[in-house]
Amino acid sequence: MEKADNNIYPVFSKILKRSDKETLLNQKGKVIWLSGLSGSGKTTIAKELEKGLHQRGFICQVLDGDNIRSGVNNNLGFSLEDRLENIRRIAEISKIFINCGIITINSFISPTEKIRAIAKEIIGANDFISVFVNAPVSVCEQRDVKGLYKKARAGEIRNFTGVDTVFEPMVNPDIELHTDRMSVADSVKKIIDHVLPLISMHGKKE
Ligand code: ADX
Repeated sequence: MEKADNNIYPVFSKILKRSDKETLLNQKGKVIWLSGLSGSGKTTIAKELEKGLHQRGFICQVLDGDNIRSGVNNNLGFSLEDRLENIRRIAEISKIFINCGIITINSFISPTEKIRAIAKEIIGANDFISVFVNAPVSVCEQRDVKGLYKKARAGEIRNFTGVDTVFEPMVNPDIELHTDRMSVADSVKKIIDHVLPLISMHGKKE
């Protein structure tokens, strides 16, 4: 058998570095990871956050549970094992974005400390900003934007987070948003105030 390394031509010395791309974009790549129950407000906040950062000159990419699950992860369900694989792949995808200097805004239930720890480990603690979108399950269920809590209570959906499978509250998030008593605008402002110094090349967008 031919040795694999006979046909491998490393080109690392010719590949542009992450810092070259960050300089071009005049921003630093980071992952802003929103975790919380279905209906807690993650998607709404992610979209408004992208708008807010875009207006300030930052290029972002939103990665969202429903979108990713209808595409790259459409072979995964909602067992804890599948959720872990869902998050593992998303973390790997996020890493590609941050290596291009792009800020990703990830909105996934990411229900357990273990799942979130794996995401953080893949991405790297330095590039990982954790946000707990914290609304009580009673409030999320009352909102029931997608009608999924109703279906879960009726037994039409199994393993529904907060109903018949676990959501572990985030311990020590970088940012915590109580969306049952904070406006979307206030939540977005709180994230922007925290991340601006971390994503700016020289402390400030020029
Ligand atoms: S995660 O747990 O693996 O992080 P993810 O954020 O990707 O979940 O997907 C959650 C979305 O899938 C919800 O917003 C909801 O629309 C949909 N969904 C469908 N079935 C379930 C379920 N059993 N539990 C939670 N969300 C579900």
